[in-house]
Amino acid sequence: MKPTYYVTTPIFYVNGAPHIGHAYTMIAADVLARFKRLDGYDVHFLTGTDEHGQKVEKAAIDAGMTPQAFTDQISASFRDIAAAMGLSNDDFIRTTDPRHHLASQALWTRLQDAGHIYLGGYEGWYAIRDEAFYDEGELVTRPDGIKVAPTGAPVEFVTEPSYFFRMSAFQERLLAHIEAHPEFIGPTARRNEVLGFLRGGLKDLSISRTGFRWGIPVPGDEAHVMYVWLDALTNYITALGYPNENAELWRFWPADLQIVGKDILRFHAVIWPTLLMAAGLPLPKRLYAHGWWTIEGEKISKSLGNVIDPRELVQAYGLDPLRFFLLREVTFGSDGDYSRKAIVGRLNTELANDLGNLAQRSLSLIAKNLEGRLPGRGVLSDDDTTLIAAAEALPVVLREKLDRQAFGEALEEVWKVIRAGNGYIDRQAPWALRRTDPPRMAVVLRVLADLLRHVATVLQPFMPTSMSRMLDQLGVPTDLRDFAQLRSPLPDGTPLPAPEGIFPRHVDGAA
Ligand code: MSP
Repeated sequence: MKPTYYVTTPIFYVNGAPHIGHAYTMIAADVLARFKRLDGYDVHFLTGTDEHGQKVEKAAIDAGMTPQAFTDQISASFRDIAAAMGLSNDDFIRTTDPRHHLASQALWTRLQDAGHIYLGGYEGWYAIRDEAFYDEGELVTRPDGIKVAPTGAPVEFVTEPSYFFRMSAFQERLLAHIEAHPEFIGPTARRNEVLGFLRGGLKDLSISRTGFRWGIPVPGDEAHVMYVWLDALTNYITALGYPNENAELWRFWPADLQIVGKDILRFHAVIWPTLLMAAGLPLPKRLYAHGWWTIEGEKISKSLGNVIDPRELVQAYGLDPLRFFLLREVTFGSDGDYSRKAIVGRLNTELANDLGNLAQRSLSLIAKNLEGRLPGRGVLSDDDTTLIAAAEALPVVLREKLDRQAFGEALEEVWKVIRAGNGYIDRQAPWALRRTDPPRMAVVLRVLADLLRHVATVLQPFMPTSMSRMLDQLGVPTDLRDFAQLRSPLPDGTPLPAPEGIFPRHVDGAA
């Protein structure tokens, strides 16, 4: 039986068009899902849309549509983006799915039956943009005197009857859990923020609203709809069949990794685990908060008009180069800036020059001088064995990096090997060996082909289509492309198809 691996993205609010920030979360999770599949895991990868609440209802009204018609339309656009980003998700959940109504109401009932829910009244501030409650003390006063949420979102004063979740009762247990499991929240700086917040004291949480209707009705009291975050967080278990804990997919709970943006870590690191504790369910093994992208130095926003449809970037640069750039350019966990100059620079240097040229040079020498057949390894020199050892270590090295979501470091390790390969080909000069020592030329080209096979195999999660083309050119059969297969060398004499360039160069300035 393969070990299981469950990875999730946040579910996206359907109040506007998908942008590069959404694509980023999706791609990061996809790389991990693909990596784990190649590493022998039984993977479940979930993404989807978050469709209830006042923010979405308001967006529907502004668009002159019913919430259902509006959410159907925008949810479809997120599904399209997921496909356009090459996502290998196993499921796409919508919080308007009947299965999700069932799961949310079942979770509610379970908490209520266990005595964790009581009826009270909420009096305080609410920010629709954040779908969050704020205390008076958390608000900030803008220079024009208007009070806003700490995120800058407008707030309104709300007084309404509300059900509460006894979240305060779980403060100590959650603190103890986070302290005992240093890997539970990453990166460390964010974990410390959560700890600081928890030490400040946890209050009970308002978990129902009465001012509007676009939500899941509270079981037994239909005047209330559930607070959208309660419904949203439940999606991660709905998708595994909750409340049926005998469902086939339930074996994937607890999740191995839940990726979120830094703005929504607190909901995932405080509300979600306390809800699970109250329901008697295990907590996810790890939450990781990534940073935010800006575009050419500016915050991404509709009003600035700089919302780039990720599909335009795919058209300009190709999907794999975009995926590579997003995970290579900034440390996962830190904020990053997208600029044309940065992407063109990376693609030309690292994809076209470093990797593309190494493959093209090696494979065309095999095509020209060895009748396009993979040569045997023969007797290896120290230079050969050092290079091969570095390439062979890649799956193990990457496993450790990616288990910490260190995508940039993982890619750097691969590029060290690629750069070493370029140094090797220059030093060994197989084009000169062709005359002086043809058997040695054959060995050098085999070493390079083996290096490229390892590199292309471990880069598949990042650049699935291009690496599949590279593996085709290296003569690797499609069913021999997972990490375990790297231990079996390809037979000497394997015929290779004619090599073709994989990564074009981009001219700076052109889109
Ligand atoms: N619906 C909630 C999540 C519920 S999960 C149970 C939500 N949706 S969102 O559409 O607003 O954001 C989805 C994800 O996109 C979040 O993780 C958020 O951090 C991420 N991003 C939104 N803008 C972003 C950038 N500019 N850069 C990087 N990620 C960004 O929050």
